Amino acid sequence: MAPCPEEIDVFTVPHSRMKELVCQYLDMLTATNFSDVSKFIRLLENLIRTFQEFIAHEQIENQFIMKKLKHKLQALRIQNTAVCNCHKDNKLTDMLSLLQDGYKCTKKTDADRRNFGLQLKQALQDFTEEFLPHMAEEEEVFQPLLMQHFTFDELKQIKATVLQQHFKV
Ligand code: FEO
Repeated sequence: MAPCPEEIDVFTVPHSRMKELVCQYLDMLTATNFSDVSKFIRLLENLIRTFQEFIAHEQIENQFIMKKLKHKLQALRIQNTAVCNCHKDNKLTDMLSLLQDGYKCTKKTDADRRNFGLQLKQALQDFTEEFLPHMAEEEEVFQPLLMQHFTFDELKQIKATVLQQHFKV
């Protein structure tokens, strides 16, 4: 398929921000000394903000892209389970719960915090390994599907709404 014109590309701009956040937390994880309580707390605060932004991103996509696409496909009697299931798991809320749990470690020993650090690194690595391909799927599979079923002007409007909603976050 031909490349997507910028005016109707609903995913690339928000995903640039999400990928920037991924790079930031990977850097933070490498730099953080889990024995240092104040740095540990700062890391948790940053990660909680990051995952709240990921959740907002997902909600915007659900409300302003996936719902519209789902309705359009339903009207055409086209079955596409990928559209319905693309945000069905609880990965983001699970990560937020893990981060909230991290605060309990602020009152525990250095060893407890280091152990939590290992658990957190693994959880973030697992999350990232799914999140990056998930965004690629939206760009490579759902964007062409949108272009197939919506007009240029409809997609321009969807993109404008999606960006406007992200700026509010
Ligand atoms: Fe664009 Fe569903 O993350």
